[in-house]
Amino acid sequence: MSEPSAGVNGLTPRQLMASGSPHGLVYVEAAPGSGKTTVSALRFGLHRFSASTDRRAVVAVSFTRSATEELRTRVIRYWGPSSVTWPHRIVTLDTLLCDLLFHLLQEGVLRWPGGHTDLEVLDTWRTALSAKPGRIRPVLRVDNGQVVIRTVDESQSAGHPSVLDFKKAISEGRCTHDNVREVLQGALATGEAREALTSYFEGTIRSLTVDEVFDANDLDRDIFSLAASGCRSLTLVGDPWQALYEFRGARPAAMTTYISENSFTTHHLDKSFRWGSDKQASLTSKLRRRLPAQLPPGNAQDADVVIAHRWQALWGADAHVLPLAIKPGVGQAQEAICTLLLNEITQHALGLQAVFLHDALATLGLEKENLATTLHACLQDAVSHLKEGTPSRQVWEILSDGLADLVPALGPVSPIMIGAR
Ligand SMILES: Nc1ncnc2c1ncn2[C@@H]1O[C@H](COP(=O)(O)OP(=O)(O)OP(=O)(O)O)[C@@H](O)[C@H]1O
Ligand SMILES: [Mg+2]
Repeated sequence: MSEPSAGVNGLTPRQLMASGSPHGLVYVEAAPGSGKTTVSALRFGLHRFSASTDRRAVVAVSFTRSATEELRTRVIRYWGPSSVTWPHRIVTLDTLLCDLLFHLLQEGVLRWPGGHTDLEVLDTWRTALSAKPGRIRPVLRVDNGQVVIRTVDESQSAGHPSVLDFKKAISEGRCTHDNVREVLQGALATGEAREALTSYFEGTIRSLTVDEVFDANDLDRDIFSLAASGCRSLTLVGDPWQALYEFRGARPAAMTTYISENSFTTHHLDKSFRWGSDKQASLTSKLRRRLPAQLPPGNAQDADVVIAHRWQALWGADAHVLPLAIKPGVGQAQEAICTLLLNEITQHALGLQAVFLHDALATLGLEKENLATTLHACLQDAVSHLKEGTPSRQVWEILSDGLADLVPALGPVSPIMIGAR
């Protein structure tokens, strides 16, 4: 069925129906740019302001910091800043998982080494502990309610902290978001933790909305099913075609099965507001229906971002295309330098900061201001060499020599291959 154009206040009837759905379990499936975040933000506000005597929180989560920030901005724009005053909140799923772990520790369902009930949770150990390449990775497990340290033997070598350093940090009450996930995973094998978390949802959260739900992995899905038993309303919003995180465990097919087996009331939004032309709209609608489509040829100069099925195609593409990859496990300082270089390019080309810029600066003992002052010329120089086709090994030598003078914490760094066109 084709969707009529915009309804009340510019929303389409389908967006309105999905936003105001009175059901407890709601699933909104929507194409790119068709209003997933719009509907999540509207539904958040409707729930937030519709039950003034219910003191439990209205919560919305997304998976990345940027998507969460976008949702929060949208909610504040539609509903005003009071919509997100405590306990109502819009946070990353990782933050919600931390809340759940802290609850289990505070209730005594889990015991942390050293008896901590509150933890400092880091994005990664990279900036806090030195890493050595190897296959042994220290991890956390749950044994009879006690959080314990174990090791796993990975199939590939990568940089991991030593067991000793890991043990010390954990017993001081520090861990990473991955460790939070490991512990929750272990805890959910027991009925006691499951009951404690269901009561947590029942007592503290009345409505949970999850945007981009197809990025969820098995643990996330398990958490949503506990939320479904505890909260009055669970809204899952997403597009199975836009699942990005299969490489880190997301299982879109399992999410589809979970939704269909649990009687979610489903709303479909299929009109996108993102396409600039009818041609684009018809191309994407064909591709979503798995129909063959022919892509019109274009100029590399006109493209902001180029994607390809295989790396090789990018290396062989027009000289305007700059593929940039950092081989994992090359060393902390080397990765940090590459991140600074990547940041120089993304800032210039897209106006965006590289994702791990903060970590890179911490690794090199630098402040953000150093980028604009001392480092800029050296990084720009390297980008120009890459553009001109100077062999990558030579670019690396010039860059690491230049940085050695500017970054006091940087000792001699071994060569790595960087590449760009
Ligand atoms: N009914 C509407 N009329 C006009 N513009 C709309 C309407 N609904 C959404 N938009 C606009 O379309 C754009 C995409 O909407 P939104 O971000 O909610 O979609 P999305 O499905 O979350 O997108 P993505 O797939 O990127 O996550 C936004 O700029 C939004 O303001
Ligand atoms: Mg969105």
